[in-house]
Amino acid sequence: MQFDWKRIKLVMAPMEGITDVRFRLLCRHYGADLVYSERINSYAIVRGNKSAMKTMEMSEGERPIAMQIFGGKTDIMVKAAKMLEDKADIIDINMGCPAKNSIKIGACAALLRKPAKIKEMVEAIVSAVSKPVTVKIRADNALRNALIIQDAGASAIALHARYTKDVYSGKADWDLIKEVRKELKIPLIGNGDIKKAQDAVEMLKITDCAMIGRAAAKDPRIFYEAKELMRKEGIA
Ligand SMILES: Cc1cc2nc3c(=O)[nH]c(=O)nc-3n(C[C@H](O)[C@H](O)[C@H](O)COP(=O)(O)O)c2cc1C
Repeated sequence: MQFDWKRIKLVMAPMEGITDVRFRLLCRHYGADLVYSERINSYAIVRGNKSAMKTMEMSEGERPIAMQIFGGKTDIMVKAAKMLEDKADIIDINMGCPAKNSIKIGACAALLRKPAKIKEMVEAIVSAVSKPVTVKIRADNALRNALIIQDAGASAIALHARYTKDVYSGKADWDLIKEVRKELKIPLIGNGDIKKAQDAVEMLKITDCAMIGRAAAKDPRIFYEAKELMRKEGIA
């Protein structure tokens, strides 16, 4: 399905325990062009788990919203994606979370080492839902994985340019974002270490969209400040 990515510059990153309806509305108010739900366990969605249902709540004022799912089993991920497709504007697949319990079940960042599984999962979800499908990845095998994801039919990719083993330490590798951007045809959302509004502008100079996490959690007005700077610098 078509989605107007040209309208999307500033993106609010998914953050478990933070990016609920109220926070997402606040980010939209301050200028985020796209918001994400936190990652939702595909098994929990399929089983109708109460807390998963709560996490799936959204309000119309948030649109466009990407709902993020995770899991290691393609059939369950497909079912969960289908259950979300009426609500979500985008179905996003989490292939970046480094949490041990996710890796253990072959989900999230564990998938970055399994190119065949990436292809299978993305193709299956893309063909099952009528909404655009995106994937959030990390630096591990980034170029190879991004090309597989693109070929599998995804509409865009978000790259948190930090390796799984580094969790949140060290510095995000923006040169890697540049390198992947050069090779992709679909939009690339750059993520990692946008600490102030000017950093978002710098990210937009190297790729299509800038995704902001922790700095927005501290102060969502960063989206407003970034929009102001973008206007000054003539970035639409
Ligand atoms: C508290 C917290 C929760 C997070 N939860 C998720 C999540 O549910 N899904 C996801 O893809 N990334 C998650 N992330 C990663 C962020 O989306 C983002 O990739 C990371 O924080 C790097 O961006 P930043 O430097 O702008 O914070 C989380 C990060 C934090 C700090």
